[in-house]
Amino acid sequence: MTFKTLDDLPEDIAGKRALVRVDLNVPMADGLVTDKTRLTRIAPTIEELSAKGAKVILLAHFGRPKGKEVEEMSLRPVALALEEVLDHRVDFGSNCIGDIALKEVEEMASGDVVLLENTRFHAGEENNDPEFAKQLAINGDIYVNDAFSAAHRAHASTEGLAHLLPAYAGRTMQAELEALNSALGNPTRPLGAVVGGAKVSTKIDLLENLVSKIDVLIIGGGMANTFIAANGAQMGASLQEADMHDKARAIMAEAAKNDCRIILPIDGRVTTEFAANAPVEIVDFDENTKLRDEQMSLDAGDKAIKNVIAEFEQLNTLIWNGPFGVFEMPPFDTATMATAKAAAELTKTGRLVSVAGGGDTVSALNQAGVADDFTYISTAGGAFLEWMEGKELPGVKALG
Ligand code: 3PG
Repeated sequence: MTFKTLDDLPEDIAGKRALVRVDLNVPMADGLVTDKTRLTRIAPTIEELSAKGAKVILLAHFGRPKGKEVEEMSLRPVALALEEVLDHRVDFGSNCIGDIALKEVEEMASGDVVLLENTRFHAGEENNDPEFAKQLAINGDIYVNDAFSAAHRAHASTEGLAHLLPAYAGRTMQAELEALNSALGNPTRPLGAVVGGAKVSTKIDLLENLVSKIDVLIIGGGMANTFIAANGAQMGASLQEADMHDKARAIMAEAAKNDCRIILPIDGRVTTEFAANAPVEIVDFDENTKLRDEQMSLDAGDKAIKNVIAEFEQLNTLIWNGPFGVFEMPPFDTATMATAKAAAELTKTGRLVSVAGGGDTVSALNQAGVADDFTYISTAGGAFLEWMEGKELPGVKALG
């Protein structure tokens, strides 16, 4: 799709008011931001606009206050954290519309940055109410959306505003869309995906979309147990969804029809205790596997790891969402760490384009120390999943 970027801005935007939608839905504990990744990602857009003399007015949501003012969901503490990241003053306006917002914006000078209060304190945000969108738009001359991770929401500040003001993608949105397009839209084949995580039921759309588009689907995590069990194995106390066996078989049949190979773990790290450093036995998996009732697989085994790495070596493009095992708990982080490092190494040597995203995935790759070595890591959770499902994201569509 085509969309305007900051390169398409009018020559002179000095003094112009840029309403910039960012994603400040950041992890917080005791009123402090505990992970500043999303703040660092939006800095280039803010800095560029401010350097060009625009008045930068930031709009964002935090949490799910459902149209009401909830003190713990105020963005005020985030303004302080952003100030540190930007090394630039960030003023705070305690309402995103009305007199407070108006006054805050009127007092701005060229290059100033203001963050307005949580857009979700107003019901009109999530309802994409045109009236509410107009009230937001009053404070801007242009609209910049730099919140890919909120682009799956058709809300007033993510979608509605794009129809009211000249709309541009911010630098993070642009980088995200370019990276995702090179991974799934227009990939260099062979194209593979790692899909891990706990449940098949939460990723059905995604699996169905992928098997019709990619060459190799590598399944990990609790989801893999469901597939292995659907092939006839007894997986003991392993996390799996018995009511998803038919679905899993249908996905495997669809994959076969589309020449997409599905790779399941050929062995697993099996234990009887869901605990860090629990004693482990490596068990081969096939349709005849019979784990005892108390046994559970919490990670892929060594043969599976080798197999996955061998698959990576044949790929040109890799999309990654979800871990192989319970990576928060050694030794059940083994497969995720080993395969992440292998993908990073292949990327560094220029043999692989690797794109990863989704909440757990990013922390797993950080834990493996390889987040900087992937071609692109998306900070999006739900938006990344919807993109993998092949859905059109309303916030992105509105920029086109
Ligand atoms: C996110 O954190 O993934 C986005 O900001 C979207 O948040 P939401 O799921 O509350 O809409």
